[in-house]
Amino acid sequence: MGSDPISTIADLRTTLAARRANGLVGVVPTMGALHAGHASLITHARHECATVVVSIFVNPLQFDRPEDLQRYPRSLETDAALCESLGVDLVFAPSVEEMYPKQPECSVSVGRLADHLCGRFRPGHFAGVATVVLKLFEIVQADRAYFGEKDAQQLAIVRRLAFDFNLPVRVVGVPTVRESDGLALSSRNQRLDAAERALAPTLYRALHRVRGDVAAGVTDVSELKRSGTAEIPVDHRLKLEYLEIVDPDDFQPVQQVGRTVVAAGALWVGSTRLIDNLTCAPGSAMPSAE
Ligand code: PAF
Repeated sequence: MGSDPISTIADLRTTLAARRANGLVGVVPTMGALHAGHASLITHARHECATVVVSIFVNPLQFDRPEDLQRYPRSLETDAALCESLGVDLVFAPSVEEMYPKQPECSVSVGRLADHLCGRFRPGHFAGVATVVLKLFEIVQADRAYFGEKDAQQLAIVRRLAFDFNLPVRVVGVPTVRESDGLALSSRNQRLDAAERALAPTLYRALHRVRGDVAAGVTDVSELKRSGTAEIPVDHRLKLEYLEIVDPDDFQPVQQVGRTVVAAGALWVGSTRLIDNLTCAPGSAMPSAE
């Protein structure tokens, strides 16, 4: 990279205009506090694109709780250094005023894809995500955009956003990166204290249990949810917000597993909310260790 983050839309557009002839432009939209999961998105983009842009913007529109927005980790300097080490060409780090100079009058509304899972518990969250992602797509005009599969519902909504609005961008999903105990990497993990960190992988274990049961032929969703939930120990620091089994295309809950499904969960660990998901294929042999 070798230069400071770009903070204005005008500067980004000018810099990108000079680079488009080099080949594909890829964007990795982030809210910063970058970790190995983001590094994996960036590495995918780096392999495929001539120019890689990482956006870093903590988007107020997608926070349903003011304290969550306030507590969201911010570390622009370290993030920019990581981007540089990964060969990112441009870091775009606008201010809130740059992205929203006026209170927006227009925003994207998301239909039933946002009805369940996180959408049910975080009112307005996905409208905020879809709105900022649309803005970022318009600003960067990238050929490819990279999103983590950890946020499976977000990824499905972004894919549908691109489809519904005929956006000329290919949305690429990148597999979740995990710690050795299964915990999915997330910027929120850094808020966990040592005791909470030890409890955090129980969400993965619950989803893994569901995956194993589906692979072993269990089709009844109530039974699957019961056995998954039983993996979460009784502890005052843990509160399971949801554990759902949904169709991978429309994210609607299923009653019976007849084909590949997504098991998704949100777990409060102390005051930190973690999410995760696993794809579950019926009757598959041994479940993989993803
Ligand atoms: O996944 C995230 O970090 C955010 O939701 C995104 C896609 C950057 C939009 O603010």
